[in-house]
Amino acid sequence: MSERRLAFFGGKGGVGKTTLAAAFATLLASRGERTLLVSTDPAHSTGDILDAELSGEPERVGDDLWAVEIDAAADAAAYVEKIKEDARESVSPEVLPTVHRHLDLARSSPGTEESALFDRFVDLIALCPQEYDRIVFDTAPTGHTLRLLTLPALLTAWVEGMVRQREKVAGMERMLRNLAGEEGSGDDPILRRLRERRDRFHHARHRLLEDATFYLALIPERLPIEETARALATLAGSGVAVGALIVNRVLPEVEEGEFMRARLEQQAGYLREIEERFRRYRIVRVEQDARDITSRRQLERIAERLAAAGLR
Ligand SMILES: Nc1ncnc2c1ncn2[C@@H]1O[C@H](COP(=O)(O)OP(=O)(O)OP(=O)(O)O)[C@@H](O)[C@H]1O
Ligand SMILES: [Mg+2]
Repeated sequence: MSERRLAFFGGKGGVGKTTLAAAFATLLASRGERTLLVSTDPAHSTGDILDAELSGEPERVGDDLWAVEIDAAADAAAYVEKIKEDARESVSPEVLPTVHRHLDLARSSPGTEESALFDRFVDLIALCPQEYDRIVFDTAPTGHTLRLLTLPALLTAWVEGMVRQREKVAGMERMLRNLAGEEGSGDDPILRRLRERRDRFHHARHRLLEDATFYLALIPERLPIEETARALATLAGSGVAVGALIVNRVLPEVEEGEFMRARLEQQAGYLREIEERFRRYRIVRVEQDARDITSRRQLERIAERLAAAGLR
């Protein structure tokens, strides 16, 4: 398989997506690939591990490493403000307050944040490969990310329908104008915007299928294993490639008393289960560190592990 340029890290809450995405981005950058690490974590943990002040625009955090922190809520708010502005020009003053009220309601709905986030993803993806060789996305827990990845298909179909509707109406309007002997400008701004959006989603979907790899992070415990199985089913349906399952926080074999023996025994059972149930996939193990991952040195150690496992 040729090397894919876009990497998405997903998995259940707290299993290590942010840590592993940062480690993978560090690995790519260390090989001289201009790499952009994209975080959507509202807790700003990417900035913490990289020990850098991040913002909504890519900041350089290493020789070949850049990082950006997307604030989906703020993006959604800005997006709604922009539509409000547009409405001011195109809607009569009497109905404007109602339209604005609806838009305010829309802003707080989860779908709005998702599509604002998706819009940012599409913008960033467009920077690759011209500005960045690789982009690594550290995303929200599995469900959200998967919805995001399957969104282009849905949105394309939806916008497609809107375009057809609008084409019908526009054709009708043109006919009426012709009958009345009027000259039309021939330009329909709504249709143009819809078509742009359709092409954008279409293109995004193509990039996701052709150029993206999904890495699923989990830990050797019951609930993350089940979530992984569900995510794999969804991914198989969406056609997005799975790069590897990364089993994080694997306890090292130490001979230390009853408690540790019990934990290790349970872990061994889950690791066997993971190898068996997911044997069609590449499985990579990353050991549990004695401490939280807070330094670049620790990140580099995980990066070395990922490299040794053949991730690239
Ligand atoms: N291999 C590891 N060894 C030790 N600590 C780890 C390891 N991987 C992750 N951690 C720690 O586990 C915690 C959760 O990791 P991380 O923030 O990467 O998870 P996440 O999946 O991004 O969480 P969220 O779903 O909240 O975004 C952090 O404190 C991190 O330092
Ligand atoms: Mg995270």
